[in-house]
Amino acid sequence: CGIVGYIGFRDAYPILIQGLKRLEYRGYDSAGVALINNEGVMNVYKEKGKVSNLEALTSQRDISGQIGIAHTRWATHGEPSAINAHPHVSQSGRLALVHNGIIENYSNLKILLEKEGYTFKSSTDTEVLVQLIEYMQKKYDKSLENATIMALRMVVGAYAIAVIDKNCPDKIVVARKSSPLVIGIGADHKEFFIASDALPIVEYTKQMVYLNDNEVALLKIGKKIEINNLNYEDITPEVKEVNISLESLEKGGFEHFMLKEIYDQPRCMADCMRGRLLLNEKRIVLSTINMHRERLMKAERFIIVACGTSWHAGLIGKQLIEQWANIPVEVEYASEFRYRNPVISPDDVVIAISQSGETADTLAAFQLAKENKAMCFGIVNVVGSSIARASDTGIYIHVGPEIGVASTKAFTGQVTVLTLFALALGHERGTISKEEYESTIEELGNIPEKIKSVLAKDEEIKDIARSLTYAENALYMGRGFNYPVALEGALKLKEISYIHAEGYPAAEMKHGPIALIDENMPVVFVATHHQLYKKIISNIEEVKARNGRIIAVVTEGDEAVKEIAEATIEVPSTLASLAPLLSAIPLQLIAYHVAVEKGLNVDQPRNLAKSVTVE
Ligand code: G6P
Repeated sequence: CGIVGYIGFRDAYPILIQGLKRLEYRGYDSAGVALINNEGVMNVYKEKGKVSNLEALTSQRDISGQIGIAHTRWATHGEPSAINAHPHVSQSGRLALVHNGIIENYSNLKILLEKEGYTFKSSTDTEVLVQLIEYMQKKYDKSLENATIMALRMVVGAYAIAVIDKNCPDKIVVARKSSPLVIGIGADHKEFFIASDALPIVEYTKQMVYLNDNEVALLKIGKKIEINNLNYEDITPEVKEVNISLESLEKGGFEHFMLKEIYDQPRCMADCMRGRLLLNEKRIVLSTINMHRERLMKAERFIIVACGTSWHAGLIGKQLIEQWANIPVEVEYASEFRYRNPVISPDDVVIAISQSGETADTLAAFQLAKENKAMCFGIVNVVGSSIARASDTGIYIHVGPEIGVASTKAFTGQVTVLTLFALALGHERGTISKEEYESTIEELGNIPEKIKSVLAKDEEIKDIARSLTYAENALYMGRGFNYPVALEGALKLKEISYIHAEGYPAAEMKHGPIALIDENMPVVFVATHHQLYKKIISNIEEVKARNGRIIAVVTEGDEAVKEIAEATIEVPSTLASLAPLLSAIPLQLIAYHVAVEKGLNVDQPRNLAKSVTVE
């Protein structure tokens, strides 16, 4: 879900709507806004569906006011509907509240409030919270900020909230626990912006405060931010300067963000390696290794925790670190890891990989690592995000904002960072030969250009993708470094084209998926010219023998696979260890074109959200 808020001297509505659009990638099943106009009337509008539906609803309504809060939702409790959409309003109509997260003890709180005469309109956990704050305000005659603290002290769960009170239109109260919230400060504190991340705020101010867990902030026009924690202690706000270009938030002539982000990859990789990969000197410089050499050198094991695409990047990272640095690596789904009593020792390094830096399960897995005194190492894209801040050290991937829900450039950025890290670590430990270290560095420098040459085949890939439009299932097969690429290719297809797809290590095919193969089953092989090439050809033959349809990603100049496959896509030759950075690209494009061909919403596929801040 995404939250936006504004208080100041400008009209709030356009800022809120524009902000919601910037956050729509976080959730988009309903949206709403609450504004207090100059007569002190609070207008609340909510609509099912996308932000544009909300705009249509408000076109003839009173949208005036210099204070307001807004929300775009990804449903957890209660189906997507106008009633369940936020903001939620308190019983007397005095308070409006937006919330991102989950109130776990909401049914107990509801029973308590019902005894006090409160009734509920929606089936959300959030409505309970706004009623509880109003109850505290009335019963104990408290200010909005103090009533909010009292209410939150009773809440179990995760939240980022913003509350407004029509009796006090000069303030907004915000709070956070486990869900992100950023405050933007206007000149002389004459205006404040709030949002779930920096994206809706960057065009107005660069001065931002990232709220920490258990903090409640009072934003009052003309006054400095006042922050208290839930124990009523004063906290000094830490103001950060955030630099994100507006251009990076626009589609820049592309039809979809996803396509723009796929095409961004050569530049993103270059950005990611800048200052880290020193081609002339043939070496890698990572500040994390300089600063934490001793700790990283004595690491007995790495545990990578991640979800979704980031987990796939982790599988590649495992192979790289084990190959070059000779340290065992485990890769875990963060959601499983956090709940299964894992063995973690203080000599372990736990690496959390996350584009958003906000995925609730990954953050919780990291916290578990912290409790067990392991080193917490973050590989994150969003600067200042919760996982970045919870890290002892780490490496930003620096690929710029990723807006398309299906991750693309973050994946190649994550793999690039893992490659740099594994190489640098191997070099420090003396477990990689000088020759391999230097030749891999040299080849890494060539990858952005090689990605460009894969992108140049887009038309060809589009034609091949067309043949998948009516498929109901698909299999993706790869081996070695290309096995996680197959998983990622299948995930992309599932996410945006709604075709059921499975990724598999090719040799495992005969232990199950082979039973599915007939003339209707497309099988996408990632069969670049590397160590297991000959073996994967045998796997391709097995599919051919059962009349399966074969599409293959191969190395330029390949002949053997071309002879058997229905279609092949050539990628430039590279080292086996760097193959994923090239072979992932055609699979991203296949998924993209299939979804476009099917007329689906590529950037905002159904039921998914980019930043999953609930478990
Ligand atoms: C969601 C997104 C995926 C992403 C996953 C992990 O499912 O739709 O694209 O891979 O979360 O997100 P993270 O931000 O932690 O990388």
